[in-house]
Amino acid sequence: MVGDSIGTKLVSLGHKVMMGSRTASNEKAAAWTNRNGSLASNGTFADAASFGEIIFNCTSGHVSLEALQLAGRENLQGKILVDVANPLDFSRGMPPSLSICNTDSLGETIQRQFTDVKVVKALNTLNCQLMVSPGLLKDPGNIFICGNETDAKAEVESLLRTLGWEKIIDLGDITAARGTEQVLPIWVRLMGKLGTPMFNFSIVS
Ligand SMILES: NC(=O)c1ccc[n+]([C@@H]2O[C@H](COP(=O)([O-])OP(=O)(O)OC[C@H]3O[C@@H](n4cnc5c(N)ncnc54)[C@H](OP(=O)(O)O)[C@@H]3O)[C@@H](O)[C@H]2O)c1
Repeated sequence: MVGDSIGTKLVSLGHKVMMGSRTASNEKAAAWTNRNGSLASNGTFADAASFGEIIFNCTSGHVSLEALQLAGRENLQGKILVDVANPLDFSRGMPPSLSICNTDSLGETIQRQFTDVKVVKALNTLNCQLMVSPGLLKDPGNIFICGNETDAKAEVESLLRTLGWEKIIDLGDITAARGTEQVLPIWVRLMGKLGTPMFNFSIVS
C-alpha cells in the first residue's frame, strides 16, 4: 500500500520509479507498473535498489532487514534510504506492539547494519494516502524526519515539500526514530476511536 501510494505520487510528479519485490514477476508490482505508464517499472529488490537514487523502504517492519539484504549492500551504498516502515508485531493480535522500542528503533537498526547508507526516517507516522496528499486534511499537521546526515535530510525535506508538506520537524539524528516509531501505539488507538485513518498529529506550542 505504502509503496504503491508513494510510487504513484512520485510518477505523477515526473520521477522515474521502480517498484522492488522479492520476485521480478510480482503480480502487484506488475499491476502497479501497468497503471502508472512509462515512468514506472518493477523488478527485484536488487534491481530497484540499483536503479534508484533515493530508495524508499516500504516493507513490513519485521522483514525490512531481510528485504534490504536482498536489495544488496552494493546497490544501496552511499544512497539515501527513506525508512517509512514501522516495527509492528501482530503476533499477539490487535493492537500490535513494537518489536523494537525504547532504547532502539528500526531506523537505527537499519543504519547500524547498513553503515554506508544515509537512513532518513520519515512519513511513518501517518496513513499512506495522507503521506502523498496532505491537502486531504483541512489542517495537514506535522511530519517528522530524522537521520544522521544533514545533506540527506535536506534532500528528503525538499522532496517532501513537493508532496505538499509544509510543517516538517527535523528531530535530529536517527535515534529520534525511537520517538517517531513509538507514536504508532497511540496512532492505532486513535484510528480505532475515530473510525478512520485520515488524521494526523499537529504540534502546538
Ligand atoms: N499502510 C500505511 O498507511 C502505513 C503508514 C505508515 C507506515 N507504514 C509502514 O510501511 C510499511 C508498509 O506498509 P503497507 O501498509 O504498505 O504494508 P503492505 O501493503 O503489507 O506491504 C508490505 C510489503 O512488504 C513486503 N514483504 C512482506 N514480507 C516480506 C519478506 N519476507 N521479505 C521481503 N518483503 C516482504 C510485501 O511484499 P509482497 O507484496 O510481495 O508480499 C509488501 O511489498 C510497514 O512497515 C508499515 O508499518 C504503513
